[in-house]
Amino acid sequence: MTTPSTPNTAKKILLNAFDMNCVGHINHGLWTHPRDQSHRFNELSYWTDLAKTLEQGLFDGLFIADITGVYDVYQNDIELTLKESIQLPSHDPTTLVSAMAAVTQNLGFGVTVNLSYESPYQFARRFASLDHLTQGRIGWNIVTGYLDSAQRLIGEKGLKDHDLRYEQAEEFLQLCYKFWEGSWENDAVLKDKQNRIFTDPAKVHQIQHQGQFYQSQGVFQVAPSIQRTPVLFQAGASPRGLAFATQHAEGMFIGGDQPEKIKKQVDQIRQQATEQGRDPEAIKIFVGITVVTAETDDLAQQKLDEYISYASPEAGLAHFSSSVGIDLSKFADDEAIPYQKTNSIASVNNKFKEQKITKNDLKAQHVLGGRYPLIVGSGTTVAEKLIQLMDETGIDGFNLTRTVAPESHHDFIQLVIPELQQRGRYKTAYEYGSLRHKLFQQGDHLSASHPVQQFRCQSSDANSDQINIQKQSA
Ligand SMILES: Cc1cc2nc3c(=O)[nH]c(=O)nc-3n(C[C@H](O)[C@H](O)[C@H](O)COP(=O)(O)O)c2cc1C
Repeated sequence: MTTPSTPNTAKKILLNAFDMNCVGHINHGLWTHPRDQSHRFNELSYWTDLAKTLEQGLFDGLFIADITGVYDVYQNDIELTLKESIQLPSHDPTTLVSAMAAVTQNLGFGVTVNLSYESPYQFARRFASLDHLTQGRIGWNIVTGYLDSAQRLIGEKGLKDHDLRYEQAEEFLQLCYKFWEGSWENDAVLKDKQNRIFTDPAKVHQIQHQGQFYQSQGVFQVAPSIQRTPVLFQAGASPRGLAFATQHAEGMFIGGDQPEKIKKQVDQIRQQATEQGRDPEAIKIFVGITVVTAETDDLAQQKLDEYISYASPEAGLAHFSSSVGIDLSKFADDEAIPYQKTNSIASVNNKFKEQKITKNDLKAQHVLGGRYPLIVGSGTTVAEKLIQLMDETGIDGFNLTRTVAPESHHDFIQLVIPELQQRGRYKTAYEYGSLRHKLFQQGDHLSASHPVQQFRCQSSDANSDQINIQKQSA
């Protein structure tokens, strides 16, 4: 085991804060804790303060989840969802980014957008604009949705079939690649006042797209941003989802509570990436985790007990019901929940097929209102467990949920990060450059072995392998 006195060169832990533009995100019920501030989510200062805090803790990013639709599967109603504020109300995540970018220099932003309800052109324009304004710190968590309530809200008949959603995602992405990387050459913008040439017309090209889901023709409206394509995150775990993610994603988000199961997923992801002709390390793999920490193990346990007294495992079950598309209120506490095929998150739902799970099991798992693995202890204990989990599984880092906001982030920064740093497993300063460069140290653009390559315009092709790091002003 690594001790604090022998810093090593083993892989450093990447760290995102995992949050959402709402009150109850993952750990439901904690909004009732007297010190919790998440009810202030509609105030800009809540988010700018959070961004500054995370940057002080050298977090790589803030990963902002999002959902289109409401959780109405549990009890076939939204009553509990409203009472416990289970991701309702929830506001648009992209609206937060410019403000947070203005008060930080290095923090990345992984923003979830459900492509099923977006026009590729408008979406690509919004994210390219954000890449400019954040100086290359934007990422996109690609989701396709899993809620029937969203389809009704948007005015469509029902959720598209699971695998068809991924087909649509594939084409959506191809079109975005054309916009982001196929329309403007890297050096198209001259800003030449003397010769009155802002942009060289010879270096801006029309894109053409006639597909199954989308058509487009014309030039993109946004000049090349630092990263061009935002850093791509994805959480697909079903066979179709994995095929999509290992082809496109640069960051993958996996669930899992047991190291052996996490390792299996990691190995599968890296193998599939290799089969797709990519470097297996070109995908950074993050596990979602919840941490409760204090000065000693005993105090951390006391803090957990106190938090638990405010948590709502039932609200967690209501959230879970929508994730799997099954109304869990219908089952007795000790009854094995039968597997039923639904159109929701396939990989989560499949657990009912693989093992006997009762509502009591789920409630025990949701003791803090959420189903993420929970680590409790002093900074030393937590740091060692995180390092152990990383070393046993081959993951690259963690998406850290919040419990009592923003207290839990302050605790983590004050107590856990110094312990990770002493063990040589966490950065002590940010690298220069874009989010992509910070993650991979290979420049701002996607590499030539990524599928984006076939959509790049000719001259961009030639430049694509250049290390192109825009140093940020200090
Ligand atoms: C840890 C994790 C976080 C996720 N966050 C979101 C999210 O914020 N919004 C969303 O619509 N889906 C989210 N999802 C669902 C995924 O986008 C995706 O629907 C799911 O993983 C589908 O996987 P499948 O391929 O198993 O169907 C998340 C999934 C996981 C595992």
